[in-house]
Formats: sequence, structure tokens, C-alpha cells
Amino acid sequence: KFLTAAAAARHVAKEIDKLIRARNAAGKHTVLGLATGSTPVSLYRELIRLHREEGLDFSRVVTFNLDEYYPMPKESQHSYFRWMHETLFSHINVKWENIHIPDGALKPDEVDAACEEYDEKIRSFGGIDIQVLGIGRTGHIAFNEPGSPQNSRTRLVTLDSITRRDAADGFSGEKNVPHHALTMGVASILEARRIFLMAFGEHKASIVYKAVEQAPTEAISASFLQEHRDATFVLDEAAAAELT
Ligand code: F6R
Repeated sequence: KFLTAAAAARHVAKEIDKLIRARNAAGKHTVLGLATGSTPVSLYRELIRLHREEGLDFSRVVTFNLDEYYPMPKESQHSYFRWMHETLFSHINVKWENIHIPDGALKPDEVDAACEEYDEKIRSFGGIDIQVLGIGRTGHIAFNEPGSPQNSRTRLVTLDSITRRDAADGFSGEKNVPHHALTMGVASILEARRIFLMAFGEHKASIVYKAVEQAPTEAISASFLQEHRDATFVLDEAAAAELT
């Protein structure tokens, strides 16, 4: 728990920085799992600063994003593809061929095979070293809404109405928010070697409490992180307020 979201973001950035530098020194790649949304913005700002001011080299970094709306063209102002490029990728020296984001422009009959390939691609790079997560008010990690099984893989899902309501501002109205998304599954996420779930603000306090202190359940996919060997909840004071 940290006093502020900025301090929490610096902590996670430092861990990512240490791993990338160690891997670079050994001539090896680093595989990062990345999230979108308001929560990781301060982390991405700090990573950009580390790149610009402290020489953090992303040329051997491979990234996998958690999710994308469906359907969603890459160039849309609402796509996570565009958001990631504007918020992080275009400010660091990650190689574009090393960036992976579920493709919201797939034809319906291509989706299943592409989702399977996404999980295979992660495995082909040796799995995710550090996974960054946020948490939705439904308790989702990525877009694993209530009812997502612990063994779920990357797939097409239907978004919860709370999630669509929370996204409404960005889409100028809930009716414009897509009903579906492509998301990494709970099992795909839990295979990461290290996980940081970040949550900031009082609106996250009650779901953080349930995810951390109640028994793991499909009703709150973040609760499955309790069963992971190296998962850390990185919280500010407000998000940690209901923890005992
Ligand atoms: C985004 C994602 C979501 C968000 C969650 C919290 O890639 O997978 O699970 O992390 O909805 O969103 P914010 O950070 O906007 O509160």
C-alpha cells in the first residue's frame, strides 16, 4: 500500500526497469503483459521518463495487451491499439513487431483461431514475465467478467452492463460502447510469473476488499490472484481503505 498512486506507479515501474535491465545485460528479451484504462497511465508515464532520462532500453521488450473491444478498427479513437500507441509505445523504443494486442478488426469466423494463436504466441516467447493489471468494478481482470472460469483462455466475451456504463464517458454515451471484447483469459493471466494489480481511488475500495479477503470465486475474477505465487495488489490509501 502506498500513500499516493504516483508512488505506487513508481514502485511497479522500478520493478519493470530492474527486470528489463537485467535481461538486456544478458542479451535476452523481457515479456510484459499490459493493461489499458486510467489506472496504468502514471506507470506508463514513469516508464517513458525512465526511457528518456535514464536510458531504459525497450528494444528487447515484447508486449502483450490484455484486451480490445470487439468489433473495433485499430485506427478508431476508441481502440486500445490506438490508446497504447499514444500513451506508451510511440514514446519508447519498443519494436513494433514485438507489440501484440488482440485484433478487434477480425472477421467473426477468424476470432476463435486468432484467440488460440494469441495464447500460443505468449507461450512461444516463454510466457509473461511481469503482468500489469487493473480491476473493474465488477471485479474483472482484463475483461473477465463475473462467471469467467479459472481455466478460461483468450476469447470473445460479452461485457457486463456495469463495465459498459463505466466506459460510457469515453464513448460519449453508453449506447456507443461495444457489447463485446476480446480478452486474455483468467488462466492466460495466471500463467504470468509475476503480477501487479494496481487499483487507485475510493471507488475501487469495495471490490479490492472482496478480491483480496473473500474466498476465490468466478463471480470476481481478480479473486483468483490469491492463488498465484507472486501476485501483488498495489494500492493507494483510498483503494485499500476497506482492507482489514
Ligand atoms: C484494461 C482492462 C480492464 C481495466 C479495468 C479498470 O485493459 O483490462 O480490466 O484494467 O476495467 O479500468 P480503469 O483503470 O480505467 O479503472
